[in-house]
Amino acid sequence: MKKILIAPSILSADFGKVYESIELINKSDADWIHCDVMDGRFVPNITFGFPVLAAVKRVAKKPLDVHLMIVEPENYLNDFKKAGADTLTVHLEASPHLHRTIHAIRDLGMSPGVAINPHTSIDLLYEIIGDIDLVCLMSVNPGFGGQKFIENTYSKIERLKNLIISKNSQAKIEIDGGVDFNNAAKLVAAGADVLVAGNTVFGANNPTEAILKLKNLTANTILN
Ligand code: DX5
Ligand code: ZN
Repeated sequence: MKKILIAPSILSADFGKVYESIELINKSDADWIHCDVMDGRFVPNITFGFPVLAAVKRVAKKPLDVHLMIVEPENYLNDFKKAGADTLTVHLEASPHLHRTIHAIRDLGMSPGVAINPHTSIDLLYEIIGDIDLVCLMSVNPGFGGQKFIENTYSKIERLKNLIISKNSQAKIEIDGGVDFNNAAKLVAAGADVLVAGNTVFGANNPTEAILKLKNLTANTILN
């Protein structure tokens, strides 16, 4: 049975207590720590950059899954490596030379991922799927936590899964945005490997229990 990974997004955590939030994730059943970097240009919001990421890395005991929502991500790959990214995901829509960027990420020793917006077709991944370790399917329009899940994501997962199989790719399918207790199992049944959860974890009274609940919900899913 494949292992489903849970990646809490610190975007919804209290940044005044970022140390405590990372410690909480360290001690939880979470697998990765999802870090959303936004530049106010690719998306209409600004979050954090290298110093904050490096501070998170100093405390983190789990891999940093860094999701870049920035223009010209290729200019900062080495800086994200130095700040501690383990997986580095760039948006297809922000990367005119995606193939070069993906290989530069791998050459720096990070695991390359590609994120696509809700309106972007799976077909656009055809030529790159064999080169990447992760596809981040945005199930909300990127920019903010706590948004409503877009239902069309299920059919995108199925089409992506078919593409991965047909090209013999090792890429994991990550779902980002609006993941909650109601849709987690269904997403895994459709083919998801990694679930990002911001509001569902850090909006809960007990984030540790919320992580465990997501883990149990997805572990008990009958996988196809
Ligand atoms: C949105 C970010 C997400 C966000 C998810 O642009 O990429 O990672 O933190 O938050 P929730 O789970 O609250 O939708
Ligand atoms: Zn994200």
